[in-house]
Amino acid sequence: MERTLAIIKPDAVAAKHTGNIIDIIENNDFNIVRMYKTKLSRDQAERFYAIHKGKSFFEELVCMMISGPIIVLALEKDGAIKAWRELMGDTNPANAAPGTIRNLYGISIGSNATHGSDSPATAVQELAFFFPDL
Ligand code: CMP
Repeated sequence: MERTLAIIKPDAVAAKHTGNIIDIIENNDFNIVRMYKTKLSRDQAERFYAIHKGKSFFEELVCMMISGPIIVLALEKDGAIKAWRELMGDTNPANAAPGTIRNLYGISIGSNATHGSDSPATAVQELAFFFPDL
């Protein structure tokens, strides 16, 4: 089975959507392999999102990701990477399909409730970042 990294971002944790989002994850037949709550340092956030360094929204992204606690999850399912991205919906909540997590809980493109790995190579890197024992 495939694995992917999911993050419940500070905006969704602060709004107390954690339980609802975990319900959606389990109702869609993902196995939660590992999960914990943490708060990123600036250095960790900059390293995690290094691929976006130099983009206009990088500073906003880092500030948002260190603004409060996050929940990180290693999810497992057949086709987990694509399935989790579909369940999250479009990056911009304004364009996210009805019923997707970002449609339900996202506020803006910067505060969009959740993150998910975008490819098998990224999933390996991102899982190792938060779950080095996996
Ligand atoms: P995520 O899936 O975590 O991957 C990178 C994040 O950058 C993305 O979700 C958005 O939250 C954020 N992002 C992408 N584009 C913009 C933008 N134009 N303005 C602010 N944040 C953005």
